[in-house]
Amino acid sequence: MINEKLQEAFNDQINKELYSEYLYLAMKMYFQEHNLQGFVNWFDVQVQEEHAHAMGMINYLNDRGGKVDLRAIETPIVEGSTPLEIFEHVLRHEEFVTLRINHLIDVAEEVRDRAAIGLLDWYIKEQVEEEATVGGVLATLRLIGEDKKALLMLDKDLAARTFTPPVIG
Ligand code: FEO
Repeated sequence: MINEKLQEAFNDQINKELYSEYLYLAMKMYFQEHNLQGFVNWFDVQVQEEHAHAMGMINYLNDRGGKVDLRAIETPIVEGSTPLEIFEHVLRHEEFVTLRINHLIDVAEEVRDRAAIGLLDWYIKEQVEEEATVGGVLATLRLIGEDKKALLMLDKDLAARTFTPPVIG
């Protein structure tokens, strides 16, 4: 059985991962409206990744005989009205998620749940990758500035991103 405090922290994080999925879906709609199909693809992959992150925690609670408590997902608010501002929001959001995963690890350590700590190690490495990926796009967007041609070139690059279902844990 899983410790109740840790179960609560996992349920809270499942909600945040599902919120992330929802937020990136809303951002995908922004790029859809602006017909930047490479960005649409990038966010589509992001949506699938967040879904996988939530499912990894749901499966873990199931495996440990815990109770999954699915809660209401907040309405996503996309901050910004340009690709650059939206990616600044993505980075802020991922930094927030990293903080939350660190908090989850703190709880797992407090209740001395080594199996959970092992699982969460995967998530913390994933956060390093996510922040680096987003930071890379953000740096390019800063270089691009107002150059529409360069933006279209980046859009073409982002069309190449593919989703590989992660092996979590
Ligand atoms: Fe599930 Fe982007 O963190």
